[in-house]
Amino acid sequence: MTDGLKPEDLEPDAKLVEKEFFEWQERFQAVFNPDREKLVDSLKAQWERASLLHSAEAALSELKIEHNRLLGKKSALSRLKKKIGFVNPTYKSVVGQRVQTLERNIKAAIILAEDRLKHFIAELSTERESIDVTMPGRRPRPGHLHPITLMRERIEDIFVSLGYAVEDDREIETDFYNFDALNIPEGHPARDPQDTFYTTDGFALRSQTSTVQIHAMQRRGAPIRMIAPGRVFRRDTPDPTHNPMFFQVEGLCVDRGITMAHLKGTLAEFVHRLFGPETRTRFRPSYFPFTEPSAEVDYSCFNCGGKGCRICKGSGWIELGGSGMVHPNVLRAANVNPEEFTGFAFGLGIDRTCARIYQLDDIRLLFENDVRFLEQFR
Ligand code: FA5
Repeated sequence: MTDGLKPEDLEPDAKLVEKEFFEWQERFQAVFNPDREKLVDSLKAQWERASLLHSAEAALSELKIEHNRLLGKKSALSRLKKKIGFVNPTYKSVVGQRVQTLERNIKAAIILAEDRLKHFIAELSTERESIDVTMPGRRPRPGHLHPITLMRERIEDIFVSLGYAVEDDREIETDFYNFDALNIPEGHPARDPQDTFYTTDGFALRSQTSTVQIHAMQRRGAPIRMIAPGRVFRRDTPDPTHNPMFFQVEGLCVDRGITMAHLKGTLAEFVHRLFGPETRTRFRPSYFPFTEPSAEVDYSCFNCGGKGCRICKGSGWIELGGSGMVHPNVLRAANVNPEEFTGFAFGLGIDRTCARIYQLDDIRLLFENDVRFLEQFR
């Protein structure tokens, strides 16, 4: 027979409960200092207050876990309470009171911590949400479109009004779309890594947006009338104004009975609308693998009207781009029957045209992102 447990038998358990409780209090104080005044004074900046709020919220959810650990079913306190039943009746009430006091202290400390945290969180949230209506306003600095985008949109508007669709497609291409379909044969210098950028997987960064036209014809067949504005990539040449990446718009019109006269009429109309009705066009024979015949297109200088000035370098003419009648091989590569359809294509540089219109001394100004320059296009 046993007389039951004596107070000293419960002492190690009571000590364990106290130890865990004190350790929690220390940790809590370290994470959350309830001395709000000092804290907020030292952390004045807005982001600091925001992070303070964040840590207070984290401390509150931690507190719920601690509550369970110190007072829950599996806590040292719960084990201690179970042992009271086995205590010698003589000591039972003393031991019981001691344990009760311990439990009350822990509960009170947790409730107090919880109250402080909640109060603190509420105050910080109010502080964050309140607006000082007497503060001077911050003037918004709205952005605006880049001059190249403005130029692209002007070009698009003209061709859309002439019945052209605007399309774009991928910038990384297979050799088929970048070369074969455009009748650029094996061994042509354009295929050389000296001239074209390749990915490590052997894909090419498109060197002209004609690639989009092949995709479009394959999807929709003929007749088709579309322009493809977009970025193209070519290796730099010794001329510093040649960018390795530039913006181009290529156009395509394929239908029954299309002739060179349609090409000339379309580009003449385009320059009338872009530079004014007095603008003249000039076609010079040229060579492109994807067109036959091919022509370079010039327009009379918008500044001097053809007399010769600084902008047209004294010649009276400015280069618009390349053009020609679509080569039958290109139509075939896009599954369009060259016996039934003919078409013309053209391509011009958007940034070059933009630089000319705005009379920029150096085309690279368009790529430097200098706000002092860009703001002039607001
Ligand atoms: C072509 O790219 C042909 N694909 C154009 C074409 C389309 C011909 C359809 C026939 C039929 P070219 O390499 O000339 O042609 O480039 C066309 C225009 O892009 C040029 O007139 C020029 O305005 C612009 N351009 C070419 N290289 C650069 C560069 N490095 N930087 C800025 N603009 C450029």
